[in-house]
Amino acid sequence: TGYEPIDFVLFGTLGDLARRKLLPSLYQLEKANLLNGGTTIVGVARQDMSEKDYAKEVKENIEKFTSEAICKDTWKRFSERLDYVQIDMKNPEDYKKLCEHVDVSRTMVCYFATPPSIYGDICQGMDAAKVIDPSVRVVLEKPIGHDLASSKVINEQVAEFFDEKQIYRIDHYLGKETVLNLIALRFANSIFATNWDHNCIDHVQISVAESVGIEGRWGYFDDAGQMRDMVQNHLLQILSLVAMEPPTTLDADSIRDEKLKVLKALRPINASNVAEKTVRGQYVSGFVRGEEVPGYLDEPDANEKSTTETFVAIKAEIDNWRWAGVPFYLRTGKRLPNKTSEVVIYFKRQPHNLFGDSFATLPQNKLVIRLQPDEGVEITVMNKVPGLTSSGSMDLQKSKLNLSFSEAFSEDRIADAYEKLLLEVMIGNQALFVRRDEIEQAWTWVDSIRAAWDASNEPPATYQAGTWGPVSSIALLAREERSWYESK
Ligand code: BG6
Repeated sequence: TGYEPIDFVLFGTLGDLARRKLLPSLYQLEKANLLNGGTTIVGVARQDMSEKDYAKEVKENIEKFTSEAICKDTWKRFSERLDYVQIDMKNPEDYKKLCEHVDVSRTMVCYFATPPSIYGDICQGMDAAKVIDPSVRVVLEKPIGHDLASSKVINEQVAEFFDEKQIYRIDHYLGKETVLNLIALRFANSIFATNWDHNCIDHVQISVAESVGIEGRWGYFDDAGQMRDMVQNHLLQILSLVAMEPPTTLDADSIRDEKLKVLKALRPINASNVAEKTVRGQYVSGFVRGEEVPGYLDEPDANEKSTTETFVAIKAEIDNWRWAGVPFYLRTGKRLPNKTSEVVIYFKRQPHNLFGDSFATLPQNKLVIRLQPDEGVEITVMNKVPGLTSSGSMDLQKSKLNLSFSEAFSEDRIADAYEKLLLEVMIGNQALFVRRDEIEQAWTWVDSIRAAWDASNEPPATYQAGTWGPVSSIALLAREERSWYESK
């Protein structure tokens, strides 16, 4: 491997994120021979548990959350790395135990897979145990705060002990193969690089749809809502990658500087324009994929008076030279018909139609970047209908140039986002992690919208589970003679 052996300390190792995503991803890295031979994995949690029981628990989770049978050899190598320490993360004294399990002369990566409210406690405990030095890297999970002010508090608590160069803030969308491919697509292909601005592009749509509901996370979700849970991070990160200027290099700060400029250029949405530029929705009962599902307010543990949004659509505008007059429509929601995420670039129409009546105006070329599932890139083009006609007219049809990742790269399994990101932390590359100023800028934009919603006292519009959101989200585009891209 291209990195030194490390001690990987997983705070909150028995929690949901570690069980579902982090441990299975580490296991996959082991399987792909990407974990350095000397690397250890030290699980930390409050429960009293023997190393043997911990290994058993980890194995069960890997079996449950990877959709393949466990490989004996891989598991043997992996289990030999596992270690467990019982620590009450709120008690600074307890962290001394960590010293017996890590070697401070090696690089230590500490993943805080815990609620952000205890990030400060973990930092203080590590400090008390004297395990912090400039080689330690910390990985922070979202949500970092629920608004600008609270995110500053959390970032400050961590900054007291760690320099920004040591902090890796996760947005797992940045580890998705297809999201990364946005950089390759834009900057390695001159056909896109030279057409990527207001001269050629009419508008952009970014949709992240999910068919699932709240999945037993009502408490967390109801405090957050779709805006904080998805728009503040995943959608704004995708938007930044689509809209940013070419970075000088692929190093962390070159990319992050460019993303930050986009976030700074987002036109503010506030009480004066929120009704015209945003739609928020909440699902009521309906049918998703033929199955009847309850409404948001009827989910287990629901507060029946909640006005939390489960759907958001926004017309975002970027006030800079490249994007003047090009709207970016964002849409994300729970209990929509499918799980599909895509970026669709609508190019401008041709100025003049040579082809007669079959198209009063020629349709737009579209570049569809399918982020998930069925990952791929597709371009809609106009093509002559092949063959001879007695009238001599030239008839056109819409056709697709289609790159399907599963067909083109069928040998390769698409790695989970967390596999990619965990590997990048171990290598020590911050390019795919969010810098503090990006997070704070994203909160500034989102807070203003949320404040305007709160001030309006309007409840969210309802939509039936299994539909594409409130009718007003269709109107958001229709009044500008546009419509949402219909995925397959
Ligand atoms: C998480 C959100 O960050 O992303 C969840 O908290 C959401 O609410 C999830 O379901 C979606 O991620 P993915 O990778 O399944 O698209």
